[in-house]
Order: sequence, then structure tokens, then C-alpha cells
Amino acid sequence: MMSPPANIRRIGVLTGGGDCPGLNAVLRAVVKTAILQHGIEVAGIEDGFQGLIDDRVRPLTTRDVSGILVRGGTVLGSNNRCNPRRYHVGDDHEGNPVYRDVTDRCVEVARRHRLDAIIVIGGDGTMAAASSLVEKGLNIVGVPKTIDNDIVGTEISFGFLTAVNTATEALDKLHSTADSHHRVMVCELMGRNAGWITLTAGIASGSDVILLPEIPFEMESVAEFIDARMTKGPGFAIVAVAEGARMRGGEQVVARTVHNSPDPIRLGGIGQRVADGIAKLCRVETRTTVLGHIQRGGTPIPADRILATHFGYHAIQTLMLGGRNRMVVRQNNIFGDVDLLHAAGKQRLVPEDHPLISAGRAIGISFGDGVPHSHYPTAQPAVVV
Ligand code: F6P
Repeated sequence: MMSPPANIRRIGVLTGGGDCPGLNAVLRAVVKTAILQHGIEVAGIEDGFQGLIDDRVRPLTTRDVSGILVRGGTVLGSNNRCNPRRYHVGDDHEGNPVYRDVTDRCVEVARRHRLDAIIVIGGDGTMAAASSLVEKGLNIVGVPKTIDNDIVGTEISFGFLTAVNTATEALDKLHSTADSHHRVMVCELMGRNAGWITLTAGIASGSDVILLPEIPFEMESVAEFIDARMTKGPGFAIVAVAEGARMRGGEQVVARTVHNSPDPIRLGGIGQRVADGIAKLCRVETRTTVLGHIQRGGTPIPADRILATHFGYHAIQTLMLGGRNRMVVRQNNIFGDVDLLHAAGKQRLVPEDHPLISAGRAIGISFGDGVPHSHYPTAQPAVVV
């Protein structure tokens, strides 16, 4: 066992934002590396930053994390409605939300539990929330989490590959039923502003149309493509659409607004709109599937277990090497770390000239933007997420 630096004796760990497969695998790696390799104590903070506000902090032992590697979700609980800088304390008499800055309270609870640093496992919103605690003097090391794979500074976040696996399986299943009934099956996938899941699962499943938030589509272009496939092609089609996709000149489809969330917009409904548009313009039968939170659940696939273990281990190593306010990342297959604020509140979108889009166009996939695939420039050497 290595002896800990004098300033790190005890750390906290929390999981923030929407859950995703692999959170428990990171927790396990963090707790085991901290205790077994460095002899430092670990405290688990429940339900993200909410646990700091409510003082729900408990010791974690290696026993507590034994057997959780393969479990979906997070044994600590999570929360995507809690930003300590803008904490929702209730509504005024007119029903408007009232917010308060509770960062001092978080710092006080962290100090009371003698936390020399906190490992924060979360996405861009969680990193943004963490930055407000960094400003108050807490030392935080972030671990990038999201199925959307849109965190700036890292080529991949854990949870993404499992979500792609789940989405691909769903699209594969829609294929056979679309074929049998000569229908157009539209599947709406997660991905608020970044279409990584839809692009990757769409390509992996052989979807015919892929609609991404980054490439506004035209209903007429989609319909023209579908019409040709239904009349001159195999007579069925699969459309993979990201929840954040929108028609050119149009807006994203909002399902609801969650007022007490740091990121209040919840998208949903574009799949049905696309299916209705196709049915109307092509006079074919369509069906819509919204895969939803199934993409966030379940056991992480082996690649995510490995990635999560790497990230958890690396977070502790970064801390023990004196890192302050860093986020662990992977770039070009190498693990490293960047300034925590680098990723806060930003998103890594799919570039329109991404090699996978070029490859998709080359093999005849429509991205709904009317770009004739046969005229698209040759793909760059592929570096896939
Ligand atoms: O950020 C991950 C994500 O899964 C998005 O793709 C989706 O829009 C959102 O979370 C849904 O969040 P909630 O858990 O509030 O429904």
C-alpha cells in the first residue's frame, strides 16, 4: 500500500445527473483503489449534490462495493434536479420557482465530514454544478458520465457503448417486423443535442434514415427517400431519430419542462411527428417506438465495465498525484485529465463531416437533408468515438 499525501486522508464520492450503466463500476474502482492502494477513507454522498445539502453522507468500505460491477444504476442514488448554486427551494404564491444559492451549505457539510476532496461522477451539468463548489474551495475530481457521449475533452464517456448496444438491439428487432408488415418503423432515441447514440446505433443496425440534432432535416427529403425504398426497394424502412432532431427552420419537440432542474427541458415527440409526416406524404403504414430510459438501464457491457474501472482508478491516481479540480478523460485511447471547468456546461456535438456520416452517406443512408449521398466527398480516415 502506498502512503497517502498528507493532505488527502478522506474523500467523498457522488453520482450526479441522469444515471447510466457503469456508475457502479466507477464507484467500485474509486473505493477499492482509494482504500486498497492508498489507505484513504471513502464516504459516499447520496443522491448527488442533494446528499451534501441534506447531510446524507456514509462511509463506504470495499465490502459495500463488492458485487456491484455488473449492476446498472448507482448504489448511491443520483439526482438531475439539483444545482447547489441555483437550488429550487419551492414556489412563490404565484407558482413561480424560487431558487437559493446553497453552495456554502455544501462546503460546510463536506468540511464537517473532513472530505479532503470529492470525486464527482457526472455529465456536463454536474461538472458545471461542481465548478461552483470549486470556487468555494473544495477540491473536486470529475469522472465523465453520460449515455449521450457529449462531454467536451474526452472522446468517450462510460455508459455510451451500453446505450448504443441497447439501441442497436432494438433497431434490429424493429427490422424484422418492418419487413414482415411492409411498414416504416420510426425509433426515437436519446440524445438531446448530440446525436452520437443515433448515429452509431443507426449505422450498426443498418437503419435507412438517420436523423440527428446536428443535421436539420426536411420532411420532403425523408419522404422522397422512403417512397423510393417502399416502391422500388425492399418495401420497408427503418428510421432512427434522435429526440433532439428537428426539421430545418423548426424547433426541437419539447415533451415537458422540469422547473426545478438545472437543465429544465425534456425532449420527446419528434419520432411520432416524423412517422406522421411519412404516413401522410408516402401513404404508407408507420409505427413509432420511443426507446426512452431503457437506454439508461441494465448491466453495462464489458467495454463499459472496463472503461468505468479505468476512469475510477485514474480519478484516484490523479488526486494522489496532487491533481486539483481535474476531470479524467480519454483521448486517442490514452487516459489523462483536463481542467474540470473545461467540460462544465458545454457539449461535444457530432461534426457534420464526421467520418461515420460520410460512410453512411456512401452506403446509401439518408440523413434527411437532401444531400445526395453519391455526391458526398470521400470519407476521412475513420476515428470512431
Ligand atoms: O443526458 C442523458 C439523458 O438521457 C438525455 O438523453 C435525456 O434527454 C435525458 O437524460 C432525460 O432525463 P430524465 O431522466 O430527466 O428523463
